[in-house]
Amino acid sequence: MKIAMVGTGYVGLVSGVCFSDFGHEVVCVDNNPDKIAMLERLEVPIYEPGLEGLLAKNVAAERLTFSGDLADAVSGAGAVFIAVGTPTRRGDGHADLTYVFAAAEQIAKSITCYTVVVTKSTVPVGTNRRVKEIIAKANPDAKFDVVSNPEFLREGAAIDDFMRPDRVVVGVETQEAETVMRDIYRPLFLRDFPVVITDLESAEMIKYAANAFLATKITFINEIAALCEKVGADVKQVSKGMGLDGRIGNKFLHAGPGYGGSCFPKDTSALARIGQEHAAPMQITEAVIKVNEEVKRRMVQKIEDLCDGSFNGKTIAVLGVTFKPNTDDMRDAPSLAIVPAMIGGGAKVRVVDPQGKREGLDLLPGAQWCDDAYTAVQDADAVVILTEWNEFRALDLERLAQGMSNARMADLRNIYSENEVIRAGFGKYVPVGR
Ligand code: UDX
Repeated sequence: MKIAMVGTGYVGLVSGVCFSDFGHEVVCVDNNPDKIAMLERLEVPIYEPGLEGLLAKNVAAERLTFSGDLADAVSGAGAVFIAVGTPTRRGDGHADLTYVFAAAEQIAKSITCYTVVVTKSTVPVGTNRRVKEIIAKANPDAKFDVVSNPEFLREGAAIDDFMRPDRVVVGVETQEAETVMRDIYRPLFLRDFPVVITDLESAEMIKYAANAFLATKITFINEIAALCEKVGADVKQVSKGMGLDGRIGNKFLHAGPGYGGSCFPKDTSALARIGQEHAAPMQITEAVIKVNEEVKRRMVQKIEDLCDGSFNGKTIAVLGVTFKPNTDDMRDAPSLAIVPAMIGGGAKVRVVDPQGKREGLDLLPGAQWCDDAYTAVQDADAVVILTEWNEFRALDLERLAQGMSNARMADLRNIYSENEVIRAGFGKYVPVGR
């Protein structure tokens, strides 16, 4: 089937590449000519393990192409995916749907045969109906159906999540559209991955509810971690003991510096907004948003306490600044709140990140970038582990301690244990919730 993917951001590019790997003929469209030129040179604008190889493979097989010409890509396509950005609108926390609606209007004008228009972007409940109205108005003769097909890709594991999903969610209104969607996802259906065929509104809601629930789970354990510190319990043991209950599950129960990234902050805030608008306040989600901000402030306090109560004049090495490992994404990363607070307090901050520098350079003004952890800690007063990249999981702790003028560690991802850190020569070690 010919598929047009409108938007070559994170979701669009991963989905387009994976659909072409299923054997479909995919054209990825973007209105940014630099991006298209880059992709045509087989360069991937984001860091996502496995994506570059899969892209090159499918371009070579002539199943995957890139274009700035939306009309040409849409014409004759069996399905057109909308995978443009839905950033948080400034001021009111709502998802900004400008790009989605603009794409819908442009697509409408280029529909030449029965086409299924699929929304992959995360959109508030009711958006697909509006997309339908926009298309019908812009092209009254168009034969089309709209489908909601939210994505559940984790950055850093997106290819695997796409190829081996926990489920595929499809919100449809007609049998014809369902058949097209089944055709597109056939390789996954053949391998028996669960598919939830539902209505448009439920599909839209599933995405927000799932992300808000996961954000709640993380925030819950972060709050428990704060209490563990007060009562002398160990949050790692608590997570383990809780997670073994099959109804709870052990995933997303790692205490840390708060969730970040492109989805949880944006989607929780949009859900809270949708709730307010429908007079069904999402009180739990609203509390989650508030507590997640407090977690970051608590981390700043923790590091300040480690530095004898003042950042002033201290040199601090920060290991990891992206919102999580295996991505170069800095969106809503806890580092964006924590590093400026340290610099604002008078600290000299050195940062290391395997992929974060390209984006982080502008976002963390005043921070000094180093190539590796050992260089960053030279003569430092404290080291902070902020993102659990593999290269920070097995550090030579003795070497690290020896290079520092005052060997102290804040381990905000609970990678190490107090015993091993102190044994290596550190004077102080503070984890989270232990
Ligand atoms: C998330 C969802 O998992 C995915 O299904 C959705 O489609 C997009 O949003 P992503 O943002 O890539 O994916 O990352 P994820 O691995 O879910 O982590 C999100 C944040 O939560 C990170 O900041 C991470 O550090 C934090 N986190 C996660 C924790 O603090 N503790 C945990 O136990 C798990």
